Amino acid sequence: MSFPQHRPRRLRTTPAMRRMTAEYRLDPAELVLPAFIREGLSEPNPITSMPGVLQHTTDTLKRAAAEAVELGVGGIMLFGIPAERDAAGSAGTDPDGVLNKAIADVRAEVGDDLVIMSDVCLDEFTDHGHCGVLDANGVVDNDTTLEIYGRMAVEQARAGAHVLGPSGMMDGQVAVIRQALDEAGFQDVSVIAYAAKYASAFYGPFREAVDSQLKGDRRTYQMDAANRREALLEVELDLEEGADMVMVKPAMSYLDILADVAAMSPVPVAAYQISGEYAMIEAAAANGWIDRRRAIEESVLGIKRAGANIILTYWAAELAAWLKESK
Ligand code: PBG
Repeated sequence: MSFPQHRPRRLRTTPAMRRMTAEYRLDPAELVLPAFIREGLSEPNPITSMPGVLQHTTDTLKRAAAEAVELGVGGIMLFGIPAERDAAGSAGTDPDGVLNKAIADVRAEVGDDLVIMSDVCLDEFTDHGHCGVLDANGVVDNDTTLEIYGRMAVEQARAGAHVLGPSGMMDGQVAVIRQALDEAGFQDVSVIAYAAKYASAFYGPFREAVDSQLKGDRRTYQMDAANRREALLEVELDLEEGADMVMVKPAMSYLDILADVAAMSPVPVAAYQISGEYAMIEAAAANGWIDRRRAIEESVLGIKRAGANIILTYWAAELAAWLKESK
């Protein structure tokens, strides 16, 4: 293979040629929109560190879900912010809790036209902000937390979620949730396992998004950024425990992990482009330092190229609108 017989530039000559020869293209159906609902709001509340993202009211959340359906977006991932928090995260297991009500409201709005996913985790519901309950020494107690996750999962399924997303990185969480769902008759509700979730600085803006009370960090349960092989162990365990889909999170600093997981996973692989990834691009674009639309498209395409079948991104609706208009 040598010059001048080979001139790779030939396939780059026109937009039509580049479009035809593209190896990857984005599709709205593979995008999932993460969305926040806050209890007791009368107007949606902008999240300062995530310009363009809101803490929704019930009405604006339902509208966002309906718009996602219109745009052909694949799914929505719901996070709830309760008015009251306690040490055990009781609002998470309350059938009338903010997240469970939001699931039911969104399901009533869109039915089965959008895959409704919900966060199975305690950090939005606890007054200390950790993803599980604490033992006498202030350490997150894995097995006590699992029992609560099982009850949360059943309430979310009862409210109408199609897919549950345990994001707390407790050992055994997928098995316990699967068993609880099956025992309650929810055999057809899926689990998307946050299999390889790293302790990341890029979750920063999410703390504002959910008014987190967290002091300290999540390094005793989320993965260490120094580890690559360990991600495969986490995926294998979650598959054995019955995960229907697996996720890598964050996305952009972990594209090698995503490629590794995509190479071995027999189930669909998701990646979550998280709050800090969103904030970085929005901030640079707002300063005129990068071209916003091109940066968004390139970042999401990179996540797809690395092997994601499903991409959670706060730009899901906007990207879907761009994809629609370019057709
Ligand atoms: C935990 C959870 C977090 C995110 C999703 N689920 C926060 C964390 O682990 O600290 C982060 C998502 C984002 O940053 O966009 N319930």
